[in-house]
Amino acid sequence: MENFINTLYTEDNLFILTGLNSNLVDLIYLDPPFNSKRMYSAPVGSKAAGASFKDMWTWEDVNEHYLDTLAKNYPALTKYIASIGVIHSKAMSAYLTYMAQRIIEMYRILKDTGSLYLHCDPTASHYLKVLLDEIFGKNNFRNEIIWCYRGGGTPKKDFGRRHDVIFRYSKSDNYTFVSDSVRIPYQAEGMGRSDDTMWGKHKGMDKVYKPHPLGKVPEDWWQMNILNANDPERTGYPTQKPLALLHRIIKASSNEGDIVFDPFCGCATTCVAAQQLGRKWIGIDIEKQAVSILIERLSDDAGLFKNFVNTTLVPQRTDIQRIEPIKSVKERLYKEQNGLCTGCKRQFEMRNMEIDHIIPKSKGGGSYYENYQLLCGACNKKKSDKPMEYLRSYIDSEEEFSKNKIIFGE
Ligand SMILES: C[S@@+](CC[C@H](N)C(=O)[O-])C[C@H]1O[C@@H](n2cnc3c(N)ncnc32)[C@H](O)[C@@H]1O
Repeated sequence: MENFINTLYTEDNLFILTGLNSNLVDLIYLDPPFNSKRMYSAPVGSKAAGASFKDMWTWEDVNEHYLDTLAKNYPALTKYIASIGVIHSKAMSAYLTYMAQRIIEMYRILKDTGSLYLHCDPTASHYLKVLLDEIFGKNNFRNEIIWCYRGGGTPKKDFGRRHDVIFRYSKSDNYTFVSDSVRIPYQAEGMGRSDDTMWGKHKGMDKVYKPHPLGKVPEDWWQMNILNANDPERTGYPTQKPLALLHRIIKASSNEGDIVFDPFCGCATTCVAAQQLGRKWIGIDIEKQAVSILIERLSDDAGLFKNFVNTTLVPQRTDIQRIEPIKSVKERLYKEQNGLCTGCKRQFEMRNMEIDHIIPKSKGGGSYYENYQLLCGACNKKKSDKPMEYLRSYIDSEEEFSKNKIIFGE
């Protein structure tokens, strides 16, 4: 079996995504933080105690290297995100940039017959849909699924907010949709017409309507309970989703043996559901505290015991040609950079420049042209195998330091 299958990665999903081959997975479900400006923590005493994740965004969350790629390949999207910084907030545009960088990679690793389901809520859903339209193409929008549920208190001066939004996009017209696998009894979700008015021949119409023996394909609004406090499925992991929701998505948009991928997998609900339904899976979550509960859950609920991999190691793509940094590459980079070091922005002779991996090899950065840059010896030494953000913040603090020296006359 390929080494990334049935693997739970504990890392930033952007690094893992860049290490996965294109056209690899059949279905992607993602339930990212929604930018609700909250810190989510698991209750003390629950299986997931100690696990927490933040849901508030700043530019520090954005990978700088990808900003150039975003501006070059998606200029309209870049302008759109900048405008959200004015209309909404800088935090929202940082969040959208963070999401765009990742969704572009998800689109790349999705097979042409594949689908992506993005789970979000009305805080950012309308902004996220524009990202998806741009990355997937507006014609590949398939559904806006409204997941509605009951529970909680009622606000005094608002209607109670009791739904999430799940966008469904395909990569092409030729996408997997196994409608018979998700049929439900007529009337199951409450609003159906009575059998008498529903079936038979209607006035002015030639077609005779007959009930399907397996029931109906659900509409785009799904009524399913959220997990209550005593639900046996509940691990205590904040924002855990019910398995029933994932079962419906996986059954509708994949076949047995297909690869299901969740880059924000939390307590591994998608991985467990995929395993239960005979699919292969890949899960990623950045939260180290979550690992032990995920492992326990995969053993207890999915019967997997030790038959899966948990790693922080970034995979390496095998579907692109890797070029080693040779002299002509250095010359090309030198010309493109106009002889300036990309770190300190000072001019150097070519012989004093060194080739650097922008995304370090240790974080999955590949040996190909787009991932190379020239740094002067000092900047390269400082950056070492760290990301560019590290070098930038070092240079910024040095500049700040020398400015202060001038102000204070030291
Ligand atoms: C809303 S929760 C997902 C819950 C999940 N669907 C479940 O049923 O348990 C979002 C998850 O994204 C993770 N996360 C946030 N940023 C991440 C990143 N850059 N890479 C990987 N995981 C990330 C958080 O640790 C959190 O577990």
